Amino acid sequence: MEKFYITTPIYYINDKPHIGSAYTTIAADVLARYYRNKGVDTFFLAGTAEHGSKIATSAEKAGKDPQSFADEMSAKFSTAWDVLQITNNDFIRTTEKRHAEAVNKFFLKLKDSGKIYEGEYEGLYCIGHEAFIKESELVNGVCPDHKTKPEMVKEKNWFFKLSEYGPILKEKILSLELVVAPEERKNEILSFIDQGLEDIAISRQNAKFALPLPWDESQTIYVWLDELFNYCTAVGYGTDTEKFNKYWPVDMHLVGKDIIKFHCVIWPALLLAIGEKVPKKVFAHGFFTIDGQKISKTIGNVIDPIEWATKYGPDVVRYFLLREVPFGQDGDISEEKLKLRYSGDLANGLGNLLSRITTLVEKYSPSLVIGEAQLWKTSDNIDELIENYKFHEALAKMWEWVAWGNKAVDENKLWELGKTDVKKFEEISTQILSCLVTTSTHLQPFMPEVSRKILEHLKKEKITKAEPLFPRVQ
Ligand code: ME8
Ligand code: MG
Repeated sequence: MEKFYITTPIYYINDKPHIGSAYTTIAADVLARYYRNKGVDTFFLAGTAEHGSKIATSAEKAGKDPQSFADEMSAKFSTAWDVLQITNNDFIRTTEKRHAEAVNKFFLKLKDSGKIYEGEYEGLYCIGHEAFIKESELVNGVCPDHKTKPEMVKEKNWFFKLSEYGPILKEKILSLELVVAPEERKNEILSFIDQGLEDIAISRQNAKFALPLPWDESQTIYVWLDELFNYCTAVGYGTDTEKFNKYWPVDMHLVGKDIIKFHCVIWPALLLAIGEKVPKKVFAHGFFTIDGQKISKTIGNVIDPIEWATKYGPDVVRYFLLREVPFGQDGDISEEKLKLRYSGDLANGLGNLLSRITTLVEKYSPSLVIGEAQLWKTSDNIDELIENYKFHEALAKMWEWVAWGNKAVDENKLWELGKTDVKKFEEISTQILSCLVTTSTHLQPFMPEVSRKILEHLKKEKITKAEPLFPRVQ
């Protein structure tokens, strides 16, 4: 692979980041770090979506003008990603000038495509989704995701002939030019296409806090189109051709399963209309739930990832989220579950192994060092698991190694062997230390700080008793 361009959704800033947005961002960071470690030219984009009625309403409630509200809230996202050790190369905000300019070019191109026409829309609009919603999708008259009643809208709009794109999208998805994963999501998209695509409104009649439609002053750009285009803006669409050609198309759009129609249908169709390549892959993960209910800013049942990171450490949050739920599936999470992983896998597993082995080596064989040649051998293919987004399996495998190490200490009674047979003690200790080096090396994309601490400690001239990696949390 020559380059790797990976993106997260740009999140709405109607509220501060929650554990769901942290999840996608952490997973993307693992992939970005993984490919960077392999020497691949990686561009990792994150950012925030700041336009639309949803934001305007939240700003109003907070008693702020939308732009200062956006500045304040967007900063919470970039700060949160710093705390969580996210290594995004750029952070794009849809209220930036560079984005407004790129979107303007995009819309003029779209207009030239001949796929745009003027019409009238009558339907239900869900502000939580920032999208029209069908009567049949409502449950007891409200949007099932946001629990809010959609508003009836009847207005003049400009439309995009999405209905023409069914066959070509299907062909691209089936031929794997556009990979949609996991399989379940691909089938969902294919059957959505088979039901027949409808044209979509690309503008709204003067929605609040939105970009103007370049050719019609009575209209603003539909926020979702403004948002999707961020992926082009950030790599220099219309301004830096060299950069754009280098990174486009996107290699991986990592998203939650709530926004796959936007990413797998609307977005590639728009790109085809303006003559650009479609993304290579869209991977959609599942939802975190609390007691079976989707965690959502709009509903308000949120977990603050920063609170957890402050209490347990950013690497622990990263580990927990990717270990707890198989990537792609839904799963229930809670602080109780995190505590179990903390005391089990982390403190009693990895942390214990490091402190036991370093304590014993310091005591019985202080001159022992581990050389390059003694890398621990395993036939487990962690790379393959990561490249197939099986993060929980990759971590589970690494923890089998950790368990092997702890078992090796116990079964060989290393604390006695140190007194009775130093040669044997050193032989086994070396294996355990190499097992730790191997584990920490593979762990780097997941737990960068923990990995660094272990490797730095073990690569010292002299091995000394390590401080606990995962101290008791009060
Ligand atoms: O949709 N579990 O922004 P958004 C897991 N602005 N992930 C979750 C989650 C949960 N309970 N809740 C949210 C938007 N997410 C648009 C995106 S992209 C051009 C525009 C994550 O703030 C997941 O990644 O509603 C989901 O797709 C995303 O947040 C939705 O973020
Ligand atoms: Mg949402």
